[in-house]
Amino acid sequence: MLRCGSPKRDVVLSFGVGTFPLPAQLMVTLMPCLQSSPAVFAAVICFTIHAAFSAPSVNAQNSAPGESHGVSYYRSVRPILQRRCSGCHFAGKREGGLSVVNVADLLTGGEGGPALVAGKPDDSHLVSYVSGEKPEMPLNAEPLKPAEVETLRTWIAQGAEDDTPASLGNPISAENPPVYKSPPVITSIDYSPDGQWIAVSGYHEVLLHQLSGAGETAVRRLVGRSQRIESLSFSPDGKLLAVAGGTPSLFGEVQIWSLADGKLLQSVTMSHDTLFGISFNADSTLVAFGGADNRLRAMEVATGKVVMQMDAHSDWVLGTTFSLKNDHLLSVSRDRSMKLTIVANGQFVDNVTSITPGALKGGLVDVQRHPTAEEVLTAGSDGEPRLYKIFRTQARVIGDDFNLVRAFPALPGRVCDLDFSASGDKFVCGSSTALGGAARIYTTTDAAKTIDLPEIKVPVYAVSFRPDEQQVAVAGFDGIVRLYNASNGQLERSLVSVPVPAVTAQATAESN
Ligand code: HEC
Repeated sequence: MLRCGSPKRDVVLSFGVGTFPLPAQLMVTLMPCLQSSPAVFAAVICFTIHAAFSAPSVNAQNSAPGESHGVSYYRSVRPILQRRCSGCHFAGKREGGLSVVNVADLLTGGEGGPALVAGKPDDSHLVSYVSGEKPEMPLNAEPLKPAEVETLRTWIAQGAEDDTPASLGNPISAENPPVYKSPPVITSIDYSPDGQWIAVSGYHEVLLHQLSGAGETAVRRLVGRSQRIESLSFSPDGKLLAVAGGTPSLFGEVQIWSLADGKLLQSVTMSHDTLFGISFNADSTLVAFGGADNRLRAMEVATGKVVMQMDAHSDWVLGTTFSLKNDHLLSVSRDRSMKLTIVANGQFVDNVTSITPGALKGGLVDVQRHPTAEEVLTAGSDGEPRLYKIFRTQARVIGDDFNLVRAFPALPGRVCDLDFSASGDKFVCGSSTALGGAARIYTTTDAAKTIDLPEIKVPVYAVSFRPDEQQVAVAGFDGIVRLYNASNGQLERSLVSVPVPAVTAQATAESN
């Protein structure tokens, strides 16, 4: 994937996206850039060429998905199965022995035999399990719509032809991991609580780099269903990794991985679009995350059940964090607001930031709680990090920004990510401009005291403070993670997020 600009994209041009088999092979999605000033708008025009490195572009001539006269598997059947079934039936989690991610897997079937018999819908599990008064599948969820069942039935009756473009036939899985020609844009990174690992977003996967050795890092790959990994976070107890992402316009997904054995504990599908900004509560029992459906949700880690949702935002919810007591959630959005919500019942309490028009100059993309205080740091399109008190101690007066504790000097462009040090004394912040980026370490109590991190020539989308406060990691557009000394800002080491031999050599040379 080649992407310019912010992963919290305002304008995305996508060409030949695998999931959108448009005959013209060109899909242009214009996400309304409602919250940014014209200058920011111009600066964040992003071109996403998904196909560039591992999702090959769809070849219209060869297979012409959907041009056969009947029901197209690729265009009509596959989206239903992806959205409603694949969360429990894919390579990583074959409930009943069944994977539904391609036609070959359906023909192989599960413990009860093939899921379909071409030409015979009445003999096909794929139809019988979703039909009738009380359909068995999807398990514990709304039944398929009658029209969707009819689509499955007709496709099978017509011979269950597989019109998947040849180049997309082999879905990505742990056995068939992504192959990269160049490192993908990094949208999220996080140090493990023991500082031994750093988790880095890839395409369809998260890569865990072990940092203890001096030379090459050992890498573990956590390959899942979501094309896009938007956000990841280690649990405070260090046992789990939570991931929010999805496949645009198809589904959003939360993944919970067990780090001891690399097992996917939860893959929970929700919404029709990607999820963002995942965070854990203190005892690692809940995760909170936002979505392109403007919703804030909290999910129980052990069961995968969504236990809270809040719909007061009017644009994408990009960042979340729990209050110090863990009884409240803070969420930030492209709608320019930071909202406070009660975890137990999803009740919206307050706008923490000013609601006066013009007080905030652009959407907010990230929020982090101070490790030891009921205060939060946020930033976004106007580049200016700000520290706020979570709880209002004085009634709102129109025009006030009462909860603001301190504003810090702005970074160039828009801030994409920030992270507190373990004590809360410092924080690291990264930003992107049209062509470049910047990262800086700030001192929380003294806005004037900053360290600019050198050698950043590309937009920065992800930063993380190592728990021992000795190092920060900065990553973004070029797919390289740069590790800096947190006291003096010197570049200590660079590593490439994914296995790409030529680039690895270059990065090693750069950091020497
Ligand atoms: C929340 C998880 C979940 C979802 C979502 C789900 N399934 Fe299942 N499915 C299961 C489990 C668990 C089993 C095995 C136990 C059983 O048969 O009830 C199963 C079994 C099956 C089987 C039988 C496999 C065999 O060979 O025994 C079929 C067919 C099936 N599912 C189809 C579907 C379809 C089609 C959808 C989407 C419309 C779907 N499932 C969605 C959990 C799920």
